[in-house]
Amino acid sequence: MGPVLRPLRLGALTWKTPLLLAPMAGHTNHAFRLVCREQGGLGLACSELVSARALQFLSSRSRTLDLFDWRPEEGPVAVQIFGAEPEEMADAARKVVQAGAAVVDVNMGCWVPKVARQGSGAGLLRDPERAAEILQAVVEAVEVPVTAKLRSGWDAGSDSAVEIAHLAAACGVAAVTVHARHAVQGFSGAADWRAITEVVRAVPEVPVIGNGDVTSPTDARRMLVETGCAGVMIGRAALGSPWIFRQVEHELRTGDPLPEPERTERAKVALQHAQRLLATTRMPAKRAIRELRGQLLHYALDLPGQTCMRDALVRVDTPEELMALLTPLAQD
Ligand SMILES: Cc1cc2nc3c(=O)[nH]c(=O)nc-3n(C[C@H](O)[C@H](O)[C@H](O)COP(=O)(O)O)c2cc1C
Repeated sequence: MGPVLRPLRLGALTWKTPLLLAPMAGHTNHAFRLVCREQGGLGLACSELVSARALQFLSSRSRTLDLFDWRPEEGPVAVQIFGAEPEEMADAARKVVQAGAAVVDVNMGCWVPKVARQGSGAGLLRDPERAAEILQAVVEAVEVPVTAKLRSGWDAGSDSAVEIAHLAAACGVAAVTVHARHAVQGFSGAADWRAITEVVRAVPEVPVIGNGDVTSPTDARRMLVETGCAGVMIGRAALGSPWIFRQVEHELRTGDPLPEPERTERAKVALQHAQRLLATTRMPAKRAIRELRGQLLHYALDLPGQTCMRDALVRVDTPEELMALLTPLAQD
């Protein structure tokens, strides 16, 4: 492996490449994670966020655990939980580990008001004491590595990532991920990777995963070199491009870029993605199709200047219609 591409170690677990799939609600289900893994280059993948509160109640527990649709063939994954109560979070951690999580990730970055206003997600960036209580409780509750996913801080006036990373290190987390934006930014503005560098310097004893705006092998290399982070987490650039991890791994290892997949190849992968999801999802078919539409649009299957695939995809209602649309493209 090239000098910038080292295995990622979290506690007793090691991933061959330090390239991570970011948790993305509505996207990082089993089917998509497996497609990314099969394309190569991926280290650790993360599930979408799961509510610790919802896991408390029998009536919502099974629907909530549906969000974590892990299957052994995809290898070990991280499951992300969110909440504001230490005991609830500890209990949620035990439940997701029982359901197969190899790593538990604590969400400290979700800025959506419904989450952050209740003191969970990015709300914890404003309450370091509670953040530490939660991490301590979760680390004590489970044997598997626990990680925390932060943002740079709540807003430009309060960069709390370094403070929280220190507390997290003292609690015994196995890694800290820094999405280099403030919570109030949502996804706007460019990520400022200096926040990652600061955390890397502040907690040299803990692997730091950098996140934010990595869209190419060049970006990944630059993030690793500039910030000194131990791993690179990729989110939006993997949507419709599950081969990005292979491209990054290949280019960082050999120095040579891999070509972009042709349209037929992209359609084949999109078809696989759809088939997997329909075969494995625990969602009702209607909801699964609705989610799939949004996921498949990212594969950009139209010819330049055309929108007929996009137009057809957004109208698809049944698995049969979806297969009829994708299959011919994948056979060109
Ligand atoms: C559709 C979508 C859903 C997301 N859901 C989550 C989530 O459940 N938990 C989380 O910590 N971050 C979530 N994020 C943020 C990503 O994990 C990541 O931090 C962010 O997209 C920045 O990385 P990127 O520039 O590589 O996309 C989500 C992002 C998107 C675009």
